[in-house]
Amino acid sequence: MNDVQLAGQMNQMISGYWTSQAVYAAAKLGLADLVATGPRSIDDLAAATGAVPDRLFRMLRALASVGVFTETAPRIFGLTPLAELLRSDAPQSQRSLAIMMGEEHYFVWGQLLDMVRSEENAFEKLHGLPIFDFLGKHPEKGRVFDEAMTGIHGRETAAVIAAYDFSDIGMLADVGGGNGSKITAILQHFPKLRGMLFDLPHVVDRAEPRLRDAGVLDRCQLQRGNFFESVPAGADAYLMRHIIHDWNDEQSLTILRNCQRAMQPGQRLLLVESVIPPGNGAFHTKFLDLTMMLIPGGRERTEEEYRQLYDQAGFELRRIVPTSTEISIIEGVRR
Ligand SMILES: C[S@@+](CC[C@H](N)C(=O)[O-])C[C@H]1O[C@@H](n2cnc3c(N)ncnc32)[C@H](O)[C@@H]1O
Repeated sequence: MNDVQLAGQMNQMISGYWTSQAVYAAAKLGLADLVATGPRSIDDLAAATGAVPDRLFRMLRALASVGVFTETAPRIFGLTPLAELLRSDAPQSQRSLAIMMGEEHYFVWGQLLDMVRSEENAFEKLHGLPIFDFLGKHPEKGRVFDEAMTGIHGRETAAVIAAYDFSDIGMLADVGGGNGSKITAILQHFPKLRGMLFDLPHVVDRAEPRLRDAGVLDRCQLQRGNFFESVPAGADAYLMRHIIHDWNDEQSLTILRNCQRAMQPGQRLLLVESVIPPGNGAFHTKFLDLTMMLIPGGRERTEEEYRQLYDQAGFELRRIVPTSTEISIIEGVRR
């Protein structure tokens, strides 16, 4: 790459938030839903969203230049495959993710410089509460967070099912299972399996109708609680996806030891996390790690760091099963 190309690449990095904020604004205005049945004029879209027509046009023109929406005729915009993902009802909808990241996350990331020079937590500094307490106090934000988890991690579910055989498990507990989409997909794939969804009470309340609509509620126990206090006993294996990365080592050990107490010797613990590889290579999770630092106060970890946590919490790390995505299944056995 020559100097001019390098400068162009750096320019794109520096202005990356232009695109993400424009995607956020389009998601928040619900533009993809408004053009779901066909292209509409700027005047129509502006009237439906309370926007200023000329400004909305300029924003959509910019988004269309990166493949999000398309101008099908002068000042008339429609969907593209990328814009489809901003529809609320798209199977892999990223709308809630765009809203969550464009709101709290965007402002929290603005604190990165200060945060690498302190031990403070940026989310608490800005919002006065730890993230999961904040979501409990603001149900609408909590609902967006639950849906955003499918936006950010949803495509990992199929990869986990393809990589790991759950068929010899009687009951699988999904600890911190959130909106229930993962345990639903696993139960649908393994018809003899029974499940347990455990999360904070308000999160399980929101998940319950989804499980009922998906027809798996009769095979899935719902358990409401706090994994810092205890984890329900009774399952044959315990799965946690993107839970331990939310927490520092001390908090992680509390959760893992509570799982250990709920489990019988020889039972399996399955952490579904990205394991940071050595070296400089591109790995999206190295940036997710910064989000963990700024928002819940957790961290992404290396294989050795997971091995140590397992060891200290009373598990033996047996193997790490890769998937077609960055995440792996870190299989441990309770001692
Ligand atoms: C990053 S989300 C992951 C959700 C889900 N496992 C997934 O992969 O999409 C973390 C989850 O932990 C839950 N959680 C946070 N604190 C908790 C607590 N003290 N007890 C139980 N669940 C908790 C949250 O409600 C949320 O659903």
